Amino acid sequence: MPPATTPEIEIRADPGEVADAAVEKIVAAANDALRERGRFRIALAGGSTPERTYHQLATPEQSARIDWTRTELWFGDERLVPHDDERSNFALLQRSLLCNVAIPPENIFPVATDRGSAAACAEEYANRLAEQFHLTRPGPPPRFDLILLGLGEDGHTASLFPGQPSLQETTAWTVGCPPGALPPAVDRVSLTFPVLNAARAVLFLVTGKQKAAIVHKVLRESPSVTEIPAAGVQPSHGTVTWLMDRAAAERY
Ligand code: 6PG
Repeated sequence: MPPATTPEIEIRADPGEVADAAVEKIVAAANDALRERGRFRIALAGGSTPERTYHQLATPEQSARIDWTRTELWFGDERLVPHDDERSNFALLQRSLLCNVAIPPENIFPVATDRGSAAACAEEYANRLAEQFHLTRPGPPPRFDLILLGLGEDGHTASLFPGQPSLQETTAWTVGCPPGALPPAVDRVSLTFPVLNAARAVLFLVTGKQKAAIVHKVLRESPSVTEIPAAGVQPSHGTVTWLMDRAAAERY
């Protein structure tokens, strides 16, 4: 087993500064990827925390710093609701970023949520990953340049929830998940640890006092992955950065 990745910890004064720093990291990752590989592939986080970052990235000044014609936007996870449902991560991205940047529609890869079951939607997403990354399944997972992740108060990340079978997945790239303990109580589709841990870089965005306890657990107590799935994010050949505000890092 490769050595655990030592996480980089970066603390900023408030959520606004976290968003500013996140934009800088996204732009840097994009330009490195475009320079080295001619393409930037990012998997985006859902939930509420990253919305500020997406709005900031969508400003004329910041969005001009990325070549969107060579950028692909993927999703780390999705709720099994229609794309126009306010709980949808695609809807979050649509209203915060996509409505303001000139990214070709073919460069946006939403998770299809109308294939019936979560498992069927997960299978469809894995097929799209294989096609776009020119990979065969089963096989080595797609390697994202950057994956944004959030942290739930129960220690989940993406839609990998405590105690669920998805945590044991070592081959599939995507998985259908039943609802976790936290809302919204809907089925999900999530990237799995093989994909998260193949990333060149993972960036956790965590803000708010309500996350202080779980941040302490993840970063100071070496919990089991079953108990705290976020602890399982350890890219074998990549970096992990925890970008937090002071409130979330209060007990770090
Ligand atoms: C989701 C997210 C999820 C989120 C955490 C934190 O679809 O819900 O991918 O993993 O990142 O639940 O959510 P908040 O940022 O809203 O606290």
